[in-house]
Amino acid sequence: MELDRIRKVAVLGGGVMGHGIAQVAAFSGFSTVIRDISREILEKAMQNLERNLNRMVERNRITAEMAKETLNRISTSVDLAEAVRDADLIIEAIPEDLGIKKRVWSEVSSIAGSDVICVTNTSSISITAISEAIANPQRFAGMHFFNPPAVMRLVEIIPGRETSFDTIKTVEDLARKMGKTPVIVKKDSPGFIVNRILITYINEAAKLLEEGLWSKEQIDASIQYKAKMPMGPFTLSDLIGLDIIHSILKVFEEGFGPYYKPAPLIERLVAEGKLGRKTGEGFYTYKETPTVSEAASEGFDTNLLLRIFREEAEKLVAEEVADQASIDTAMKLGANLPYGPFEL
Ligand SMILES: NC(=O)c1ccc[n+]([C@@H]2O[C@H](COP(=O)([O-])OP(=O)(O)OC[C@H]3O[C@@H](n4cnc5c(N)ncnc54)[C@H](O)[C@@H]3O)[C@@H](O)[C@H]2O)c1
Repeated sequence: MELDRIRKVAVLGGGVMGHGIAQVAAFSGFSTVIRDISREILEKAMQNLERNLNRMVERNRITAEMAKETLNRISTSVDLAEAVRDADLIIEAIPEDLGIKKRVWSEVSSIAGSDVICVTNTSSISITAISEAIANPQRFAGMHFFNPPAVMRLVEIIPGRETSFDTIKTVEDLARKMGKTPVIVKKDSPGFIVNRILITYINEAAKLLEEGLWSKEQIDASIQYKAKMPMGPFTLSDLIGLDIIHSILKVFEEGFGPYYKPAPLIERLVAEGKLGRKTGEGFYTYKETPTVSEAASEGFDTNLLLRIFREEAEKLVAEEVADQASIDTAMKLGANLPYGPFEL
């Protein structure tokens, strides 16, 4: 089995996702190197990683010995060649920009061995488009972790046009070895499963808010208390970041048409630099933590929003991107929904 051959993992990018993915890989027993562009970023990545592991020890999720062993399996490098030269698996988690990704993958292709498995953690860029920069696109796929990678169980696995069946099988086995639940996305389609449904739902929520008939607290409270989701769409948007939501919607608009155009309210907030929690203001201001109470949930019909889950899920099936069971699993594990769109 090809999985047994994989011993060394190189993670490109030590940011929000990269350091978490490295933690997962090292915890699963792989010798792991993180590559980023500066020593300072790598130091911060290691500090974050150590903090995550210590917290897991404090909560009795893992032993101190396991945390130490995990850390011992991780090294860092600013030198791309050094990081990927003898890697068996390369996981890329660098900025969401096709030009940057193609540049790095093309460089990687000229250094790494020809039988290395290569995956990208992109959220919205076409796997096939990135694979054009790669010498061996049969061995390249999307492996989409969710934030935070150590906690979220879902991994979406996406083939590009040239990806071989064996590569998908190996990446699926890898995800399982990392303790994740893999969901195979049948087609390289913008947003794959979870983001396609979730980001479209957020856009619809912004459009409804603009109608002026309901307040953001009322919509958030209805979704949280009546539809039993972990949080409402505006709290969620501020957490994800409105810039990220905006850029994903632009990809959808280009790929699927004007229905997915970012709502004017999202456009406005992004133009004003109100990107959510990270800038201190988005739909809410974060001078103090916003409270969404059950009492506020009166008067909004949650079906106005929940229908988007069903509609987008049905489109994904019709477009042959995924089957019903995969979509339900992906939405429960990737978006923390208490039920999948088809179960709903
Ligand atoms: N943040 C999320 O919630 C999330 C979730 C799933 C997927 N993703 C995807 O993961 C990828 C990374 O996102 P992120 O949020 O971790 O971004 P980030 O900005 O936190 O981290 C990106 C890191 O890549 C580094 N980098 C830039 N050029 C590099 C290069 N040539 N080689 C190595 N490192 C380089 C940057 O210095 C930075 O540390 C993106 O494709 C994003 O779409 C993000």
